[in-house]
Amino acid sequence: MPAGVAIDTGVAKSIASTLMAKWQAEHPDVDWEADERASRTFVPAHDNSDLIGEATQAEGHTYRNVTELDTLLWKRETEKAVVAGSRVFHSGDELGSTIAVSCDMCHPNAANTHPETYPKYQTQLGRVALLRDMINWCLVHPVRAEALSADDPKMRALEAYIISQRAGKTLAYGKH
Ligand code: HEC
Repeated sequence: MPAGVAIDTGVAKSIASTLMAKWQAEHPDVDWEADERASRTFVPAHDNSDLIGEATQAEGHTYRNVTELDTLLWKRETEKAVVAGSRVFHSGDELGSTIAVSCDMCHPNAANTHPETYPKYQTQLGRVALLRDMINWCLVHPVRAEALSADDPKMRALEAYIISQRAGKTLAYGKH
């Protein structure tokens, strides 16, 4: 592909995301979560319905049976975290990029993020890194944004989204 085509795609993407941001500002009541689920590759959370009726521990000591409502709640809340992460991952504004760059431009559908290989020794950092350390490395370097603290809701959401996209991969910590 000639270089010019790639640049045009980047410009088109940045115009599209600006228009989207403007649209969202004008329509604050529209359900962004439903849009997010529909517009990207959404990987559903594990289905725990086989546990319905099984005894479980809740609130420390009380034993009771898992209900359908429990499994729906687990799935719903877990997927909400993932969808929030998808939104941040795809938005230069949410990431705080000073150059309108978002993660998906280099990692479409979280490609090449390899969360299953963490912790591992990262030569750029000269030490053992967790997934969040590489998220921060990309935030500061290619994305030109501020690093996020480990407990920042955006960091938690990014981790949730990246891991969801790699569902089914075998854990192989330390793998290069
Ligand atoms: C301009 C391109 C670019 C953008 C934008 C970008 N990255 Fe990266 N990312 C890279 C490159 C290149 C590497 C490989 C670095 C290396 O291992 O030498 C990488 C590596 C990673 C890794 C580690 C991958 C591995 O194999 O261990 C993660 C996780 C990651 N990026 C997440 C993100 C997140 C999250 C964002 C958005 C905040 C982001 N990246 C934005 C280019 C980019």
